[in-house]
Amino acid sequence: MSEKKESNENEQSEAQTESNSQNSTTDPAELGEKIIKDAIVNCIDPVTNCDLVSLGMIDTVDVQMGEAQVAILLPCSIDAYSNTKELEQLISSSLADTGMVSQVKFKYATMTESEKDDYILHLETTYKGKSQLKDSTRVIAISSGKGGVGKSSVTTNLAISISKLGYRVGLLDADVYGFSIPNMLGPEAEPIVIGNSVVPARAHKINFVSAGLFADDDQPIIWRGPMLHKALEQFLANVMWCEPDFLVLDMPPGTGDVALSIASLIPDAEFYVVTTPQKSAESVAQRSAIAARQLKLPLRGVIENMSYFEGDDHKRYELFGRGGGQQLADHLSVKLLGQVPLVPDLRAGSDNGIPIVISDPNSNASKEFEKIADEIVELGPAKKRLQALKVR
Ligand SMILES: Nc1ncnc2c1ncn2[C@@H]1O[C@H](COP(=O)(O)OP(=O)(O)O)[C@@H](O)[C@H]1O
Ligand SMILES: [Mg+2]
Repeated sequence: MSEKKESNENEQSEAQTESNSQNSTTDPAELGEKIIKDAIVNCIDPVTNCDLVSLGMIDTVDVQMGEAQVAILLPCSIDAYSNTKELEQLISSSLADTGMVSQVKFKYATMTESEKDDYILHLETTYKGKSQLKDSTRVIAISSGKGGVGKSSVTTNLAISISKLGYRVGLLDADVYGFSIPNMLGPEAEPIVIGNSVVPARAHKINFVSAGLFADDDQPIIWRGPMLHKALEQFLANVMWCEPDFLVLDMPPGTGDVALSIASLIPDAEFYVVTTPQKSAESVAQRSAIAARQLKLPLRGVIENMSYFEGDDHKRYELFGRGGGQQLADHLSVKLLGQVPLVPDLRAGSDNGIPIVISDPNSNASKEFEKIADEIVELGPAKKRLQALKVR
């Protein structure tokens, strides 16, 4: 209560300052206030890509003797908010750039219910599309007929690598039953749920949503076909993706219901197939590609995973044979985009929420993910299909 009162008083004094400023614009105190205000207005929330002031997330900013106190209003509790670090870095560096602030202290409170409603309303009016994807959002589905080939590991590392190239990236865990993305990206992250709307969780500078964020860890999910379609539809329609440049989908193994749902919801989703180098994997992986083709989804490339292991002697050991990726790419008449080595750190990263492209960006595996990200960007969007898009 007292904080709100304080902010009203601030508004009043700001209004006074503004009317005074018509008489004298050179008052150093006023000028300082304006510079600070501009610095805050220029802070764009990384999760939603909207400015923090319009979102109602800045309660008060007080600068004295080079020290700023910033009171932030969150649309959820501080414990549930997964992005304070990035937010604080952003505000601190914007304030430091004014040359007037050397230290920033943050204080958090949760928005009132009506403030939360305003926050969601702002997102809804800013991003009008039903699914909050823009026409140019490229939807990248990472698939394989086979489980355990590394789809989820490739999805997370690739999504982060694409974001490192300067794009806004969302990741949707479409493996509703067998989700593994929360463990791979950050088990502590939580999405923000306000009414029927969900603002994605955030980790390593990408937004993500997974059924695992809503389920008890040990409870099996028992949704059946139609419910699965509904779940995916909701992940697309009720989640505030806020018009990312890329939405990367971690597909479940196989060729079934989820590919069908994706084909009906996002008919121009681009399919990429993950396989291991062995020939038997190649033929199973191929099934998901054939299913994608039958569904008239654009098939864009093959990614070979677990291609080789590099020993301490720097020799490459091809533990799972060789050539499967290239052979599959040739069969499908698409490009083999990369060959990711088998590395213990990559597996460790899957378990501790720190993907290898973050923990060891100079490793061979990370460089290969970088290369694949470049290739995908380079490929450009698939040709638009004539059929009506259902969720965009
Ligand atoms: N290149 C790799 N090097 C080492 N371990 C890997 C690699 N790719 C995947 N893994 C591990 O293999 C297991 C299966 O990978 P995952 O990404 O979950 O496959 P999928 O999603 O296809 O089922 C995980 O434990 C993961 O950490
Ligand atoms: Mg998986």
